Amino acid sequence: MEHIRLDTLSPEMHEALIAAELAMPTAYSPYSHFCVGAALVADNGEIISGSNVENAAYGSSICAERSALLSANTLGFRRFTCVAMIGKPEQGVTEEPIAPCGACRQMLLETSEMSGRDLVVLMSNTEKTKIITATIHELLPLAFKPKHIGKKLEHYSKSHNQ
Ligand code: THU
Repeated sequence: MEHIRLDTLSPEMHEALIAAELAMPTAYSPYSHFCVGAALVADNGEIISGSNVENAAYGSSICAERSALLSANTLGFRRFTCVAMIGKPEQGVTEEPIAPCGACRQMLLETSEMSGRDLVVLMSNTEKTKIITATIHELLPLAFKPKHIGKKLEHYSKSHNQ
């Protein structure tokens, strides 16, 4: 895990953070009033973003990270290098970076396996004054993986659009 300043981010990670920030206000969050934006960087450099979408049946809600993953999958992307995320209450800011929930960590872990690299997760507070990077394996140690149920992902790990 690393604390990192905005002005030292790689151009790719900076672009991802800006894309996540732009996605944040698109959140549909009438219940929590908390908006999250996430952006994945595909292995060809393209960026795919998403935001959280809530539902009156609270458990049906989906986080920004998984929302971005679903969009990316539909666009044909399966391999990524990093994901950036940023959040804010509807009225206000977060002082500390927000971090992915357990379900998102699990989904990102499998994405990481398919990507053939340890996915970097960039987490930022609203003002981008506190930024942390960590790999998904750092965020989800001893993870349950496809191999534990005898699954190999090679067949699925090819992007469809390159
Ligand atoms: N949320 C995300 O979108 N990503 C996270 O990593 C944490 C939480 C969303 C879910 C819910 O819509 C709102 O933030 C409050 O929990």
